[in-house]
Amino acid sequence: MRLFSMAVLCGVVPLWACGVGAPKPTYHQNIKPIVESRCVGCHQPDGIAPFSLTDYGQVSAMAASVKEAVVSRRMPPYLAGPHCAEYVDNQRLTDEEVQSIATWADNGVLEGTPTASTQAVENGAPQGLTRVDMKMSMAEPYVPTQSPDDYRCFVLDWKETTKRYVVGMNVVPGNRKIVHHVIAYLVGPDDAAKYEKLDADTPGAGYTCFGGPGGPARSGWLGAWAPGGIAAMYPADTGIPVLPGSKVVLQVHYNVQVPMQGVDDLTSIELAIAPEVKKRAAIIPWTNPRWMDAGGMPIPAYEPSVSHAFSYDPSGVLGWVSGGALPGGIAFRVWSAATHQHLLGTSSRLEIEHADGSNECLLDIPRWDFHWQRSYGFSRPKIMRPGDKLKISCQWDNSAQNQPVVNGEKLLPRAVEWGEGTTDEMCLGVLYVSE
Ligand code: HEC
Repeated sequence: MRLFSMAVLCGVVPLWACGVGAPKPTYHQNIKPIVESRCVGCHQPDGIAPFSLTDYGQVSAMAASVKEAVVSRRMPPYLAGPHCAEYVDNQRLTDEEVQSIATWADNGVLEGTPTASTQAVENGAPQGLTRVDMKMSMAEPYVPTQSPDDYRCFVLDWKETTKRYVVGMNVVPGNRKIVHHVIAYLVGPDDAAKYEKLDADTPGAGYTCFGGPGGPARSGWLGAWAPGGIAAMYPADTGIPVLPGSKVVLQVHYNVQVPMQGVDDLTSIELAIAPEVKKRAAIIPWTNPRWMDAGGMPIPAYEPSVSHAFSYDPSGVLGWVSGGALPGGIAFRVWSAATHQHLLGTSSRLEIEHADGSNECLLDIPRWDFHWQRSYGFSRPKIMRPGDKLKISCQWDNSAQNQPVVNGEKLLPRAVEWGEGTTDEMCLGVLYVSE
């Protein structure tokens, strides 16, 4: 709120509120560094955003909506709320940056003088894989058939013949205009045939899937990517074990706003792998298994505010949830966290309830948006010991106003439960953990 009033004051009474003689922000000195580090990853030619913000002309022409988008915190689309945890690649604008953009937009969008020293602000994010040992691609290009959203899964063969550890993953979207997000699921050798069959039984490349890889069996995660995201080596000395005969299922969410003709995609992933690691890791799901039973997670029709929460000590089930990568009963490190809901979700939260009664926030998403899900890596890993509980909580709005539009029509509220479909819901935590 303070932000709003400051920005308004500066606009209306610039002399008093902003100080006589205080230098007004200019594009080159104040705005460009923010836009380059926080916006152009998506707002560039061939980026996922519908327009570019790569020079003064473009940014100043959009100044009013740029201001509105950052003041409302709709842009950049970074869902993690403040006051919870510190993340390595925090994309959230500081209050000062938001204020700087607002003041600039309200004060004649001054250009200023280009200086050679104006550079994109380094945000300290991990930059890319340090090496690429393996590349896996979709077998053939895919042409989306649904608009605006097409969710498709592709089954890729894991060719290594001995146990290996994945220590880093990068997604290379084939067509950045339409690839909205990618999740790489790991399917063990015992279940590989089931996914191959699913693929073979569906005409064309891959098969339709939404809330998961769509398969009949359990699967882990290798990693995920959304526009603006960068490749990352996994935390030092950690890696996810992969057995020979496994499959990687790539779930690609296509968002097709452009004319569909001739639009296709061939996405691939790059991996860094190692024969051994010091600390075994896994990306574990965290949820209440009862929610998956019939009637287990009711979200009644027309209810504007529904909550479900679950808190449990994971140490006893760690072996199971990590697919055998980690033993149970140990203290372990949590390196990153994500939550996953579908289209009716409004907010979600993950926290540790320590045995000593203290609470540690891992991730707070005050305004869930299915389109911008990603995981958030901690600046320092969180430690969980046997006796600590991991809590996930989610909220939904199932009122008539908040229904998804499918094929141009707003759906009517209906009783919703857990499921993988677009109109089902989930409340899932996804955490990168290691020994
Ligand atoms: C992760 C990708 C991404 C980043 C980063 C990003 N945008 Fe966007 N932006 C989009 C997309 C995609 C749209 C189209 C609408 C949508 O899907 O929400 C959009 C729409 C907009 C709009 C149109 C109006 C609106 O609010 O929807 C404005 C203005 C905007 N962005 C400004 C910015 C600014 C300023 C930044 C940096 C501070 C930024 N964006 C960062 C992807 C991004």
